Amino acid sequence: TELIPSLYSVYQDYFLIGAAVNSRTLHSEKDLLIKHYNSLTAENEMKFERIHPSEDVFTFEKADEIMAFAKKNGLNVRGHTLVWHNQTPDWVFIEEDGSPVSQEKLLSRMENHISTVAGRYKGQIYSWDVVNEAVSDNKGEFLRKSKWLDILGEDFIAKAFEIAHEIDPNASLFYNDYNESDPEKREKIYRLVKSLKEQGVPIHGIGLQAHWNLHQPNIKDIRESMERYASLGLQIQITEMDVSLYGWGDRRTDLKEPTKEMIELQEQRYEQYFQIFREFHDVITSVTFWGVSDSYTWLNNFPVKGRKNWPFLFNEKQQPKDAFWKVVHFK
Ligand code: G3I
Repeated sequence: TELIPSLYSVYQDYFLIGAAVNSRTLHSEKDLLIKHYNSLTAENEMKFERIHPSEDVFTFEKADEIMAFAKKNGLNVRGHTLVWHNQTPDWVFIEEDGSPVSQEKLLSRMENHISTVAGRYKGQIYSWDVVNEAVSDNKGEFLRKSKWLDILGEDFIAKAFEIAHEIDPNASLFYNDYNESDPEKREKIYRLVKSLKEQGVPIHGIGLQAHWNLHQPNIKDIRESMERYASLGLQIQITEMDVSLYGWGDRRTDLKEPTKEMIELQEQRYEQYFQIFREFHDVITSVTFWGVSDSYTWLNNFPVKGRKNWPFLFNEKQQPKDAFWKVVHFK
């Protein structure tokens, strides 16, 4: 049998290869992480609710543990994420008496959050997802409704980038989103990033989450999106890739293991996706999976309870799947 090559070594002339980890998988997937990846992202541990649960309390232990693992094993780290509508505690948006927070106070809380978190890891994070998922999925609506938008207006996005840049001037700063290959949403993301760039906001890249599946998005939309984003002259990073076996809206729960057809389709998809990534390797600086092996994925029990998913290149026994071989064997 053929020796298993290191995924990141195979791609060292193209881009970094990353994985999202949490406090558990940092240990359970340790060997794969060290052998195959040269970048890490914290799946939840650097998010607002985890790291800054109340006004004067910062809880850095779990994020620090991920940083220490990365340092010890020579992996780079992406920071995820500073400003997001989700996983942000309620206290951020209210005054002590429970009334809505003033603009001024919310801005100073945002400043305090970004400078404390990005400041702690200054110089150790190559890219930050500064603002996550601010664009709306709804037809005809530009930005997503959120407390940040309600209280601070559109400017909250530019402000977040400016603060982050001041704190960690060497980190490249990203706007990160999903459904990034949908033509309508793509144009909104493009428009947002273009306008930030034109205003002179320190933004250096676009994060494409790439929560994809066997059927969607189609290859043409992915390639066109890549071209469109690349035309902005910024970096692109694939930030949260997984290839679900279920199409959007598929609510089946009866599958105990993937069918042969699904496995083959997933291999084909991975082969096609990485082909595109290689074509765009001049602008793509890292490709991160939202997990390591099929033994853990946030897609288990999502969007329906009681079902598993198998979205990665390594199986539940942490062995390479045939999809892995498709990704490493290319001409
Ligand atoms: O830790 C608690 C636990 O104490 C509690 O008993 C349990 C009950 O629900 O919840 C646990 O927290 C869960 C947490 O994951 C830890 O596993 C949360 O409910 C659950 O909502 C949370 O999900 C995370 C999700 O973001 C939340 O938005 C996923 O792990 C994480 O993979 C996912 O990641 C996001 C990216 O940050 C942004 N892009 C989309 C991506 C996938 O949704």
